[in-house]
Amino acid sequence: MKPIIPAVKQSSATSLPYPDNYFDAAITDPPYYDNVPYSYLSDFFYVWLKRTIGDLYPELFATPLTPKAEEIVAYSNGEGGFEAGKKFFEETITKAFKEIHRVLKPDGIACIVFAHKSTEAWETIINALLNSGLYLTASWPVHTEMKARLRASESAALASSIYMVCRKRTKSETAYFNEIKPQIEARIKEKLDQFWNENIGGSDFFISAIGPAMEVFGKYESVEKLSGEKVSAKELLEFIRKSVSEYALTKILKSPQLGDIDEETRFYLLWRWTYNGTPVHFDDARKLAQAVGVEITEQWGNGFIKKDKEYISVLDAHARGKKFLEKGELKTMIDALHASLLYWEQNDRKAIAELLEKTGYLNNNAFWQVAQAISEVLPEGDKEKQMIQGLLYGKESYGKGKVDKYQRKLFEEGL
Ligand SMILES: C[S@@+](CC[C@H](N)C(=O)[O-])C[C@H]1O[C@@H](n2cnc3c(N)ncnc32)[C@H](O)[C@@H]1O
Repeated sequence: MKPIIPAVKQSSATSLPYPDNYFDAAITDPPYYDNVPYSYLSDFFYVWLKRTIGDLYPELFATPLTPKAEEIVAYSNGEGGFEAGKKFFEETITKAFKEIHRVLKPDGIACIVFAHKSTEAWETIINALLNSGLYLTASWPVHTEMKARLRASESAALASSIYMVCRKRTKSETAYFNEIKPQIEARIKEKLDQFWNENIGGSDFFISAIGPAMEVFGKYESVEKLSGEKVSAKELLEFIRKSVSEYALTKILKSPQLGDIDEETRFYLLWRWTYNGTPVHFDDARKLAQAVGVEITEQWGNGFIKKDKEYISVLDAHARGKKFLEKGELKTMIDALHASLLYWEQNDRKAIAELLEKTGYLNNNAFWQVAQAISEVLPEGDKEKQMIQGLLYGKESYGKGKVDKYQRKLFEEGL
C-alpha cells in the first residue's frame, strides 16, 4: 500500500484553499466565542519565532505581529462593545462553517467542538450552523476540563465540551415550531436520561440538551411560528431551557408532580443544583429564572436574590439571616423553609411548629420533598445541607406541640 503523506496548510478558516466537495471529513476545534484572546497571546511567542525560524517560513511571518483582522473571536473592547463583538463572531464563524459545507463531499461529516457556559455564545453557534447548511446528526458532551482549573476560576465553568457531528442538509423543508416541539422535547428527554445516569450536572446539563434539540430543529431549512415568522436561536434556547428545567426538577424531586411547588421555590432548587453558591452573570441568571417563570429584576432588594455589579447570587437561609426572620414575610415555600431552618439553628422548636402549622406545610408532602431535594443537591459540608438535615431529623416531632396543646385544652375544660 502506498503511504499517505499528509499535507499541512495554513490559511484562514473563512476562505479555505480547497475545491468544492473535496473532503470526506472536516474536524475542527474553533474559537469559543470570547474565551481566549488567541492572537494577542500568540504575539508573545510570535516575535521570538519570527527571529528564530522566520527565514525558514517567510510566508507565515510576513507581519510584525500576528494578523488580527480575521481572527474569529468576540472581543467586547472595540467600537460597538459587546454587541459588535458578538455580531462579528457570528458572522465570521458562519463564514467558516459555510466553507466547511463547501469543501465537504455531499455525504461528508463535520465534527465541530464547542464549549461555553453562556447562552449568548450558543446562540451565535446555532445561528452559524443553521445558516451554513450543516445540521447536527449527533452530539456528545465530553469531559475535557481539569477539576483544578474549574475550581481556580471560581466561575460556573463547564466541565464538558460538546462534540457536534454534522452533515450537509440535503432537503429544504419548512416546519412549524408547534408541530416539532413534541419531537424536540422527546429527543431532549431521551438524551437527558442518559446524561443524568452519567452524572452530568450543573450548567453542563443545560448545554448538553442543545445538541439533541438541534438534531430535530436543524433538519429543517426553516422553522416558523404560526405567524410565518422564523423561530430564532434565542427562542429555541428558551424552549430548551424550559424543557430541561422541568426535566431536572422532576428528577431532583423524584416526582413528576411540580404543581404544588411555587415558582420561586423551583427557581431556588434549580439554582442550587445548577450553580450552588457561584455568582452567575446576570444574563444567564435571568434565563434560568425565566425558564421557571421568575422575573429576576422583580426580586432585587428583597433579600433573596442579590446583584453585585453584573453578577447575581441567590441567598441561602444563613445569608438571608435575622433580618428576614424579623420581617416575618413568608410568601413562598422556600421562605417558609428558610425561616424554619433559621429557627432550627436557634433551637426554637416552638417557632418551627407554629410556622409549619400556620403555613400548612406541616403535613404537606411537597414541602418536605423540596427540603430533602435541596439537601441532596448541596455538597457535603455545606451549612444549609446540615441545617436541612437537622430540620428533617425532627420532622415527626413538630406536630406534637399541637396535639399537646389540644389535649391540654380538653383537660382544662374538664372534658
Ligand atoms: C479552541 S482553539 C483550538 C486549539 C487547538 N485544538 C489546540 O489544542 O491547540 C481555536 C483556534 O482557532 C484559531 N483561529 C481564530 N480565528 C481563525 C481563523 N480565521 N482561521 C483559522 N484559525 C483561527 C485561534 O487562533 C485558535 O488557535
